[in-house]
Amino acid sequence: MRILVTGGAGFIGANYIYYLKKQHPEDRIICLDKLTYAGNLSTLEPVMHDGNFRFSRTDICDREGVFRLFEEERPDVVVNFAAESHVDRSIESPGIFLQTNIIGTSVLMDASRKYGVSRFHQVSTDEVYGDLPLDRPDLLFTEETPLHTSSPYSSSKAAADLLAMSYWRTYGLPVTVSRCSNNYGPYQFPEKLIPLMIINALSDKPLPVYGQGINVRDWLYVEDHCRAIDLVVRQGTPGEVYNIGGHNEMRNIDIVKMICREVGKPESLITFVTDRKGHDMRYAIDPAKIHAALGWLPETKFEDGLRKTVRWYLDNRAWWETIVSGEYREYYEKMYHNR
Ligand code: NAD
Ligand code: TYD
Repeated sequence: MRILVTGGAGFIGANYIYYLKKQHPEDRIICLDKLTYAGNLSTLEPVMHDGNFRFSRTDICDREGVFRLFEEERPDVVVNFAAESHVDRSIESPGIFLQTNIIGTSVLMDASRKYGVSRFHQVSTDEVYGDLPLDRPDLLFTEETPLHTSSPYSSSKAAADLLAMSYWRTYGLPVTVSRCSNNYGPYQFPEKLIPLMIINALSDKPLPVYGQGINVRDWLYVEDHCRAIDLVVRQGTPGEVYNIGGHNEMRNIDIVKMICREVGKPESLITFVTDRKGHDMRYAIDPAKIHAALGWLPETKFEDGLRKTVRWYLDNRAWWETIVSGEYREYYEKMYHNR
């Protein structure tokens, strides 16, 4: 199979490429990535020179560039990870989110229609469902939950999901959509909660918890997400949406305390800072459909996954030290100074 992985120099896309290399070494992988601040070629260094791998620095909004790559590579399958992915950045600058997440997805689907693919898979998020109240633990997001977004990020992802389903209905493009809960694991950019807290703790810096830290996220180890996507791509039904999550709801403050313990730093580093605007209270996925249809279940317990993740950041200092010493410093200053 020839698989075009967009956004493969980012966190989940890169983990997916490594998953494919391990599980399906016969597949040809074409990675298309614009290399924004979140894309990192050093992440892909170990596969860069493999015969079955090609990297192309292309923007998914660049119609000509995308069509040229399709012409050259004729992928059988497209898995679209490429996106602007950080809620806080979307609150500061929504425009690029609309451009990449909506227009970029439509360009990829237009190319997929023109050249013909057996599957276009859109990697989406549980954030398209909005949030759930803290005092109703019985409520979970199912695939039937109405889309009800809070941030420019989640709104742009919801728009892309709707567009994808419209390409299925209107043109018969064989689309699947997966909506996953919060991921964590190796290669996650340190603007996101878990790597940010690990790196700050390792550097004895304050750990900035938004609001009271009582917001709940449903965490999944990235490799479990990659396995789910691969099942949907190979065995899922076109026109269907699949929720992915592992019943692992945690409050932010409890995660940060666990990280302190794991890294061996005092909880006195924790600082409560001004809350995020429009901050979603709780996400929780009901994964019954993907379990029943494709037999998927998460395999990594949170304690084990977090331990592995902390270990990875300890063993790969060069990877993140390069990031945090670059333009990230300005980002951090802007978002957290006097917050
Ligand atoms: P990320 O920000 O780490 O990586 C995004 C990648 O996309 C980067 O390599 C970046 O260079 C690339 N990219 C950005 N704009 C591009 C463009 N215009 N053209 C080509 N490439 C571009 O994101 P991630 O956390 O790996 O998320 C991947 C996908 O999974 C996203 O679609 C996101 O919405 C979705 N998702 C993420 C999570 C999570 O917890 N991280 C959970 C559910 C769904
Ligand atoms: P994040 O990793 O940005 O993912 P998302 O907003 O997409 O769920 O944030 C996870 C949670 O952690 C969210 O409730 C916001 C909170 N948070 C903090 O408290 N402090 C931080 O510095 C960051 C980045 C996030």
